[in-house]
Amino acid sequence: MLFASSNQNKIREISEMLGDRFQLLGLEDVQCYEEIPETSGTIEGNAIQKAMYVYDKYGLDCFAEDTGLEVKALDMRPGVYTARYAGEAKDPEANMAKVLAELSGRGDRMARFRTVIAYVKKGEVMTFEGIVEGNIALAKQGEKGFGYDPIFLPEQNQRSFAQMEPHEKNAISHRARAFRKFMEFLKI
Ligand code: IMP
Repeated sequence: MLFASSNQNKIREISEMLGDRFQLLGLEDVQCYEEIPETSGTIEGNAIQKAMYVYDKYGLDCFAEDTGLEVKALDMRPGVYTARYAGEAKDPEANMAKVLAELSGRGDRMARFRTVIAYVKKGEVMTFEGIVEGNIALAKQGEKGFGYDPIFLPEQNQRSFAQMEPHEKNAISHRARAFRKFMEFLKI
């Protein structure tokens, strides 16, 4: 299976879900080292754009995903701007600091992660969505995971994704939920 991503954190999480039944290839495995454009303006659109880019350029069936953090009190921002919320450096520390600063003194800390997987097969695209609801913590908690994991408390948890073992995050995460739908579709 070719995953049109060079994000090692995402590749690791999806590999863990697949187990040893399949070999998951990332973009580096097909000698694609370029940064794929993500300019569509929506999470769905970016997932489709990434998968189609690789399909068009390499002629390979593949899937891609795009993920956004949507914070209710911030009118669902950062959303499609999640990666570069605090600037082009895509620095997770700066991104988390910006969200925490914007929520400072706000009572409503409800947020969700949303992943859309786009699967391209012979030029046709299908999408699969996964959502996990939760809250933004008052401060960073934990060292595991990546991105915004230290400030996201999934569901009713007081522990953040960054305080969970990989299998605990994979049991409930946005990415896992989207990927399980995709696996059901593939009947694997
Ligand atoms: P993209 O989908 O690669 O554009 O990533 C969007 C942003 O969301 C990046 O800043 C990622 O670090 C962050 N992100 C994606 N998935 C997760 C996750 O599972 N936990 C925390 N942050 C994530």
